[in-house]
Amino acid sequence: MEVISTISALRQRLDEARNQGQTIGLVPTMGALHEGHASLVRRSVSENDITVVSIFLNPTQFNDKTDLAKYPRTLEADCALLEQCGATIAFAPSVEEIYPEPDTRQFSYPPTDSVMEGAFRPGHFNGVCQIVSKLFQMTNPTRAYFGEKDFQQIAVIRRMVDDLGFQLQIVPCPVIREESGLARSSRNTLLTAEERNIASNIYRVLKESRQWMTEASVAEVHDRVCNEINAIDGLEVQYYSIVDGRSLAEVSSWDDSSDIVGCITVYCGSQPIRLIDHIRYKG
Ligand code: PAF
Repeated sequence: MEVISTISALRQRLDEARNQGQTIGLVPTMGALHEGHASLVRRSVSENDITVVSIFLNPTQFNDKTDLAKYPRTLEADCALLEQCGATIAFAPSVEEIYPEPDTRQFSYPPTDSVMEGAFRPGHFNGVCQIVSKLFQMTNPTRAYFGEKDFQQIAVIRRMVDDLGFQLQIVPCPVIREESGLARSSRNTLLTAEERNIASNIYRVLKESRQWMTEASVAEVHDRVCNEINAIDGLEVQYYSIVDGRSLAEVSSWDDSSDIVGCITVYCGSQPIRLIDHIRYKG
C-alpha cells in the first residue's frame, strides 16, 4: 500500500490511474480505524480498481475542541489494517496541507444539516462539507463510501453532491455492530468495559421499539425510547428524533413517509462519551 501525504502526489497518482481507465473508490475517514471502516474499505476494493482511504482528523468539524483533543490517533495501526484490507493508497495529509488558509466556505442544506447533530453541534456539518468537498475535488472518485452509522451525515453529503454537481456515486454501507449490538465507533475505545456493556442497551431498546409502532403513535414511541434509556444507570439521551430518512424532517405519524428512521444520541459514562445510533422503522 502506498502512503501519500501531499495533494500534488495524490493527484498525479490518480490522474495516471484515470488515464488507464481505472475506477477509483474513496473511503474518507478520520483514522482510529475499526471493523466498521474495514467493511467500507473491503467493499470499495471489491468494486473499484483503486481504493484511496483518507486519514485526516478534520479540525473544522469539531465544534467542541476538547472532543478533538480526546479523539484517538492511531496512524500506524490504521495503515496496518488498510494494508490487510487491500487498500491501494492511504492519503494522510497534515492540517496545513489541507487548510493552508482558513476555509471560509459556508454550506447550508436544511433541514438535513440544521436538525439533530446540526442543532446540537453548530458548524459540524459545515466542517464535514468543507473536508468532503475538498476530498472529492482532490480524488475525483467514481464512488465514495460512507457508513450508515453516521446516518445524518450521508443525508447532508447527498445534498452537497447534488448542489455542487459532483459526478460520483455515494455508497451507504450498513452499521457494523459488536456482538452486544453496540454500533462500532472510534469513540468506543474511550469507554470502560462496564460502560460498553451499559451502552449496548441503546440498540436493544431501539430494536424493541420497532415492535411498539403497531400499537403506539410516533410521539408515544419517542417518549418510551427516551424513558427506557434514561432509566438505565450511566445513560442519558441527548435527543431522539423520528424523521423522514431523506429530508430528516420530523414525522408526526407513521403514515407521513415510506422511509422513517429514529436517530438517537446518548451520553454514556462519567466522562461522558457521546454515542450515536439509529433504527429504521419503515423503508
Ligand atoms: O465520518 C467521518 O469519519 C468524518 O465525518 C468524515 C466523513 C471522514 C469527514 O471528516
